[in-house]
Amino acid sequence: MVGIWRSSLRQTGRLSRQFGTSRAVRDDQMTHFGFKTVPQDQKESLVRGVFSSVASKYDVMNDVMSLGIHRLWKKHLIEKLDCGMRPNSSDPLHFLDVAGGTGDIAFGLLDHAKQKYGDNESTMVVADINPEMLAEGAKRCLSTSYANSPRIQFLEQNGEKLDAIEDNSKDVYTIAFGIRNFTNIQAGLDTAYRVLKPGGIFACLEFSQVDNQALDYIYQTYSFSLLPLMGQLIANDRDSYQYLVESIQRFPNQETFANMIRKAGFYVPGKGYENLTFGVAAIHIGVKL
Ligand SMILES: C[S@@+](CC[C@H](N)C(=O)[O-])C[C@H]1O[C@@H](n2cnc3c(N)ncnc32)[C@H](O)[C@@H]1O
Repeated sequence: MVGIWRSSLRQTGRLSRQFGTSRAVRDDQMTHFGFKTVPQDQKESLVRGVFSSVASKYDVMNDVMSLGIHRLWKKHLIEKLDCGMRPNSSDPLHFLDVAGGTGDIAFGLLDHAKQKYGDNESTMVVADINPEMLAEGAKRCLSTSYANSPRIQFLEQNGEKLDAIEDNSKDVYTIAFGIRNFTNIQAGLDTAYRVLKPGGIFACLEFSQVDNQALDYIYQTYSFSLLPLMGQLIANDRDSYQYLVESIQRFPNQETFANMIRKAGFYVPGKGYENLTFGVAAIHIGVKL
């Protein structure tokens, strides 16, 4: 473990020196892009570039790299939320899936609402900064029962602002494996609070910190040695997968992220999160009171 961390830290230092020395850009105008330090105003286009590059292979790579486990985590999130217009209600729910990419969470939430509650009315907006990822989602939508339905909309939007989404307009805000890519995560959380109705639910599924040292060692070894290599062999794109691994390392731990959700104004029930697979991923919940 020590070996891996040392070499990661060495790399961090080297890359920071490579990218962080522009005297024209002040430190408070810099942010991280994986282990690199870059000007804040460049991060959005760098992230966009990563997802444009992986979009066409994103779903298959997700299955290969997580050994299919991401499907179990997403299913768990959807069942935990248990959303859907109840049979005795006449108020459809308005879902927003931010950084929705190819639509796993969006289709899953609508399917759950339909299968469990016979809900054929609730609406879904899939918002993502990347048009190629949205195009993959819209293509997948054509082979679902929501094809050409006005109930589902794909919108190009930066989750930090969500300019096209009105205040207090959504019942459920979900984001899966997206928020760690934001330049300003707190701005994303503040925006989630803005667009939710009072009583609305914020739910985030994201990679997190493993709570067991031995498992963390195996996980880090797998992440840093195998994932970029798999990216190279399967998608011919080592750099994008290197970024994805590094961005996981840079994301705040469970407690810190729960505090950021509180800071945005949400009520956080209990400790605020549930670890999945020993903390490899975690679900954070907030309620707008
Ligand atoms: C790892 S993918 C996750 C996709 C999907 N939610 C899933 O779980 O399969 C991350 C997504 O976040 C999107 N993204 C990154 N930064 C964003 C931002 N600032 N606003 C909205 N979407 C963003 C990317 O374009 C990409 O589609």
